[in-house]
Amino acid sequence: MTTFEHPASHPDQATPSSPPTGPLPPGTARPRRLRRTEPIRGLVRETVLPPSRLVLPIFLTDANENAREPIDAMPGVSRHGLNDAIAFAREAMTLGIRSFALFPKIEAEKKTPDGAEAFNADNLICRAIRRFRESLSDACLITDVALDPFSSLGHDGVVENGEILNDATVDALCRQSLVQAEAGADMVAPSDMMDGRVGAIRRTLDQHGFEHVAILSYTAKYASSFYGPFRAALDSAPAAAHDVPRDKKTYQMDPANAREAMTEARLDIDESADILMVKPALPYLDIIAWLRSAFDGPIAAYHVSGEYAMIKAAGERGWLDAEPAMIESILACARAGADIVFTYAAVEYATWWHDQHGMPVNR
Ligand code: PBG
Repeated sequence: MTTFEHPASHPDQATPSSPPTGPLPPGTARPRRLRRTEPIRGLVRETVLPPSRLVLPIFLTDANENAREPIDAMPGVSRHGLNDAIAFAREAMTLGIRSFALFPKIEAEKKTPDGAEAFNADNLICRAIRRFRESLSDACLITDVALDPFSSLGHDGVVENGEILNDATVDALCRQSLVQAEAGADMVAPSDMMDGRVGAIRRTLDQHGFEHVAILSYTAKYASSFYGPFRAALDSAPAAAHDVPRDKKTYQMDPANAREAMTEARLDIDESADILMVKPALPYLDIIAWLRSAFDGPIAAYHVSGEYAMIKAAGERGWLDAEPAMIESILACARAGADIVFTYAAVEYATWWHDQHGMPVNR
């Protein structure tokens, strides 16, 4: 029979016979243990956003097929002729970016007060969709539904006596969605904020055999100052003319409102929207988080032109390091609850992602 010896009788072997018990002393909790090395941080990282969750907006021009025209207020972003747009998208696809939002710059002479070029089946956007479809058959193509790039008055809807008409605009948006679906869009994305447009577009698409075309609704789109560089890129700002409102506050949401975003979201879901989007992104992370917790379907965030421009501008001045600031911003959208992030920095993000993960590119 072995005799039990109390460890105290062997002061050199301080091995206790049973684990210590009792309350832990203060300071035992050390969250820094899980921040010690990059593999550990990677293991416990809560938000992981692969390039497949990004949407790269692409600006298109008819100037010439191979054009690549830099946009002043968006360093690193250009308007692309159709050949060049395909080459640009193909390059993005090698980095695992698969989804593209296409925005056309319409020549001034094709713009009219009613924006009828929007539903010309041979307009720049429809030609682009057909070309993308042919050349990049496995890309996801998302098209903007709103009249502003096509309207000489620079509004998303039909303007009459200083007002943006709701129902007349919805009719135009249905025609616009239909030509885009016919050209081969995977998703139409109404960005206009007219009431009832999601349901009307859904009915129109379904009546014409496009049940498979999804609707990504700009559900909570705010009347924001952060769209400036985008409007300059497309020359689509509201016109300085008599009887034309200079802002979009009668249809885009008031930045002071959050509960109203829930109303918009409920309406969009009732009208059968497939994806809900919040725009801009960083100033509205509370809205993203709220929609995420209230609804089951996919939520998208649009990190818009002005948000991109701010970071680039500060970077150019040496005031901050633009690349990590951009990546942090994109990740913040996902952490707040966005499944999908629209970003002009998708290529930069994907390049960083592959550096981080040392992963083979998934094509
Ligand atoms: C047009 C539209 C806008 C943006 C996307 N679609 C501008 C606006 O509403 O005036 C802005 C995107 C950006 O700023 O990056 N309906």
